[in-house]
Amino acid sequence: MAAAIAHDRDTDTWLLSTRSTSYALRVDDRGVPRHIHWGGPLTLDAAASLPAAGSAVHSSFEGLTAVGEELTVDGANRYGPPALRVRFADGTRALTWRADGHEQPDRVTVLLHFRDPHYPLRTTLGYRVHPDTDVIERWTELAHTGDADDILVLRADSATLSIPLRDDYRLSHAVGRWAAETQLKREALPFGETVLTSRTGTTSHLAQPWVVLDAGDATEQHGQVWSAALAWSGSWQMTLQRTSDNQLSVNAGAGHDAVTVTLRPGETHATPPVLALYTPDGGFGTLSRAWHAHLRATTLPHPEETRPVLYNSWEATGFDVTLENQKRLASLAATLGVELFVMDDGWFGARRHDHAGLGDWTPHPGAFPDGLKPLADEVHRLGMAFGLWVEPEMVNPDSDLYRAHPDWVLHFPHRHRTELRNQLVLNFARPEVAAWAFDWLDRLVGENDVDHLKWDMNRSFSEAGWPDEPSGRGDRLWFDHVRAYHSLLDRLRAAHPHLRVEACSGGGGRVDPAVLARTDQVWISDNTDAADRLVIQHGYTQLYPVRTMAAWVTDVPNQQTGRSIPLRFRFHGAMSGALGIGGDLTRWRPEELKEAEQLVAEYKAVRHLVQHGELYRLRPPGDLQSLTAVQYLAPDGAEVAVFGWLPQPRFGLRPAPLRLAGLARDAHYREPRTGRVHHGAALLERGLDLQLPPQDWASTVVHLIRT
Ligand code: GLA
Repeated sequence: MAAAIAHDRDTDTWLLSTRSTSYALRVDDRGVPRHIHWGGPLTLDAAASLPAAGSAVHSSFEGLTAVGEELTVDGANRYGPPALRVRFADGTRALTWRADGHEQPDRVTVLLHFRDPHYPLRTTLGYRVHPDTDVIERWTELAHTGDADDILVLRADSATLSIPLRDDYRLSHAVGRWAAETQLKREALPFGETVLTSRTGTTSHLAQPWVVLDAGDATEQHGQVWSAALAWSGSWQMTLQRTSDNQLSVNAGAGHDAVTVTLRPGETHATPPVLALYTPDGGFGTLSRAWHAHLRATTLPHPEETRPVLYNSWEATGFDVTLENQKRLASLAATLGVELFVMDDGWFGARRHDHAGLGDWTPHPGAFPDGLKPLADEVHRLGMAFGLWVEPEMVNPDSDLYRAHPDWVLHFPHRHRTELRNQLVLNFARPEVAAWAFDWLDRLVGENDVDHLKWDMNRSFSEAGWPDEPSGRGDRLWFDHVRAYHSLLDRLRAAHPHLRVEACSGGGGRVDPAVLARTDQVWISDNTDAADRLVIQHGYTQLYPVRTMAAWVTDVPNQQTGRSIPLRFRFHGAMSGALGIGGDLTRWRPEELKEAEQLVAEYKAVRHLVQHGELYRLRPPGDLQSLTAVQYLAPDGAEVAVFGWLPQPRFGLRPAPLRLAGLARDAHYREPRTGRVHHGAALLERGLDLQLPPQDWASTVVHLIRT
């Protein structure tokens, strides 16, 4: 393979090469970093021969090329959306590029330095190549190199990405809200500027910080696709610009429109990375598998581990947790084959409802007179790992913590403190707050043999002020709160290497590649309705690996939708992710418990495929009349698990055979349950008959093993 990074001195062209893609840029004779290519493989010679992307100035109105700079700055006659916009102390806003050398700290990283010819600002564009996974990682670093006057950074994106010229463009992205997260939308990209953003202080339920772009011709199986994902867990913004002459660029970065950074002399500001991934063929399915492979290879803390079957008490006992009712649930869960028992909200302080107690992280004396250790011991005795729910960034005003430290929350001095779910946000950017949180979390985990934490975050920011910030720069909390959240997780994991973490923010309100780097699974939605969940899971797995996707079977009628779906269908939905159970087992009938035990065993027989295999989306979730189906293929191709769900067929119609993917044509595959043997070619060409029972809410799992 070619060197990951090559440089042509004559033209100052850089070529970044991965296994199947190339990315090229050039520092032009004015010192401006210009984009050249992002697509299939090129040689350095070929890259050096190409013109820079973008268009020449052709009137006194359009200005410099709107697309094609590696980081579009505010300055001179540029009229596109700036990825970097600063204001110097004298009021000057424009930025001018001047190349200032480069560094290659290792074989896969290059840092291109630029300085402003007049003002003391150094800008560095960072590029890291992941040759084996085709991902190009980009970020920006700003340094104040002077000794006087602050520099105000109004916007600092991680990168501008230019997409090659095509006749048309289509955008795929995920939108949502609480209990309706990650709904995939695929739509023609309008001309003009399209902004995807979160202003909530978290990644947010509303939108996911990733985009997928194609020329309108890609399918699940075919076509070229470009994509970008931001590794950041706070507010963010992605601005797509499609010009009238059909050029397309994407600016991606942390912070939303109102968030600024003030750089003091000697300070630096590094953006989080944006990950760029192009797949040359194979459409959206191949793109998803490439993202999963990248995140598994470079990001997840323990990609080789298999997530245990989990039980969570939230929907069963709500805030009324006691030692007795948790022990009872734990013993029932253990008989079903559950491997991790998680006690949810309600175990601490005066937390008998959501009006009080958050912030007071000592066990409720009435419910747990001898602390949590007796429950942890009992759960361990039953052969399960022990997990606990926490919400470290939050406080109820009705708590001892808030009474002692009313200044620890985000607030503005002359504004009402808006409560959401009766709680306020602790300002983790304050070092004493982060230190307090580490201290009690460290003790909680250490003293109670906690194996698993579900770290929740149940509201968005409001009145996000820090009036007594010592340097008068309260706005930095938008970045520093997120950095503190990341670093607390990192420190906690380092101090307790056996600890595993489930990310949660009222369901899927905070999931992104930076969260996946520090957690083991994600509670992706509070909506556990199995039919809705197939839609949410479909959107989640566009980028994120299935093994991180916690999915529970809960009771009916469903708490979110009121719908009653049979147990088997509910199980099959949750079994296509990291299976968990969240119903009140004390109310399950003996035959339901028996069926659940069988289904947990069925899951254990295929979960190595679900969690470590390759995902093929055979039929996306559509209306309730149509079949939804996914397939998981073992990395060596020797085993397959196929899941099918048909909620409410019309006229008794059965779905057509399901054509499988990725099998060997000349191999045979055996179903261990029935002994049926299939030809690989037949499964690929004619398809698998799922033999769904003729009833509503029909579902199945078929396991196939190559003979
Ligand atoms: C959030 C979570 C739920 C549960 C509750 C507890 O809504 O998403 O799973 O933990 O908080 O209050």
